[in-house]
Amino acid sequence: MRILFLACLRAHTGNSTTAYRIKSHLEAAGHECELRDAAGLQSPLEVGMLIAQNKFEAGLVIHLYKAGRFLLGNRIPFGAVFGGTDINEDVKNEEKCRVMGAVLEDARFAVAFTYKIKEVAAKHWPQAKCKIHIQSQGILTLPNVSFNCEAFLQNAGIQHNTKNLDIFLLICGLRKVKDPLYLVEAFAEWHEREPNVYLAIIGPMVDQLFTNEVKSKLHNIDGVHFIEEIAQADLQALVKRCFAVVNSSVSEGMSAALLEAMDLEVPVLARDIPGNAAIIKHEDTGLLFSTPQEFVQLSKRLMSEPTLKRKIIYNAKQYIHTNHSWELERETYQYLVRNLTN
Ligand SMILES: *[C@@H]1O[C@H](CO)[C@@H](O)[C@H](O)[C@H]1NC(C)=O
Ligand SMILES: *[C@@H]1O[C@H](CO)[C@@H](O)[C@H](O)[C@H]1NC(C)=O
Ligand SMILES: *[C@@H]1O[C@H](CO)[C@@H](O)[C@H](O)[C@H]1NC(C)=O
Repeated sequence: MRILFLACLRAHTGNSTTAYRIKSHLEAAGHECELRDAAGLQSPLEVGMLIAQNKFEAGLVIHLYKAGRFLLGNRIPFGAVFGGTDINEDVKNEEKCRVMGAVLEDARFAVAFTYKIKEVAAKHWPQAKCKIHIQSQGILTLPNVSFNCEAFLQNAGIQHNTKNLDIFLLICGLRKVKDPLYLVEAFAEWHEREPNVYLAIIGPMVDQLFTNEVKSKLHNIDGVHFIEEIAQADLQALVKRCFAVVNSSVSEGMSAALLEAMDLEVPVLARDIPGNAAIIKHEDTGLLFSTPQEFVQLSKRLMSEPTLKRKIIYNAKQYIHTNHSWELERETYQYLVRNLTN
């Protein structure tokens, strides 16, 4: 089947990562799937011409408003995946909410990543409830086994005369909303007393101005380093080398970085916000903190209680296996799309 797939493809966003993963699921089933950036589209009419020219037989969108609206009136069967900000933000706007309702009505199926998203959607559009499937995001990690973590860390200025470096990794696009500096002062104080602990902030420089701000701030601080982003497989190798992966941001959504760390059997420490609390059960699949001081306390506990660490790693891996199965995600999308043209 020739499928037109619309999503917002801005780099390093959750929707973009999800889109490429679903595309690979569909291609694995033999479909031809063309992914287009919804941000570059103008109107349903333009998309209609695209469909005619390329003889697309079916459509798929991520984000009911930003992508879904372009399929309205275009007469190909399609499915719609809730993107996150559609159901959390756009519903509050009357006109956008109306458009999303129309998209949902035309869609053959819809997918929500969580039970909660389905619940909210069903409240707005009760008649669509039965076509909303719940499929969580699949997680698949493939760390680069040839990546030389020690050389890389040394290059980044993280080194110590003992072999025993305990590195905390914060994976984060450098944007203000991600609050990457939240832990810096508390961490630097800790590092002063225990020089083997390091915080590495790694990520793409999404906002150049803010990146410069971060770099200049870190310039005078020992124990906290900024590292420019590296390839996904290399990053996963680095995650495995670290003591823990940290999330300190207050933004909504589900952190793929945390889910991947859980899959890689590295403990996660995250700020206690709804998005993180939805995937982490405190002292069970990870640790949740509410202040920088509490972060340091919990980290110390994790370092001194190997049983707690083992338990968390084990339970987190189980959680990914049962709740974020990549295989199950693949089966779901292949099944849903196969039935689009029936
Ligand atoms: C893995 O790391 C090695 C050594 O840094 C590099 O040469 C290679 O390109 C990497 N492979 C992948 C798949 O990223
Ligand atoms: C932290 O977690 C939140 C919620 O799960 C997510 O939206 C955000 O992107 C994450 N940030 C980082 C830096 O991983
Ligand atoms: C994981 O999946 C199980 C079984 O489907 C479910 O009972 C549980 O609530 C899920 N856990 C989370 C944290 O979503």
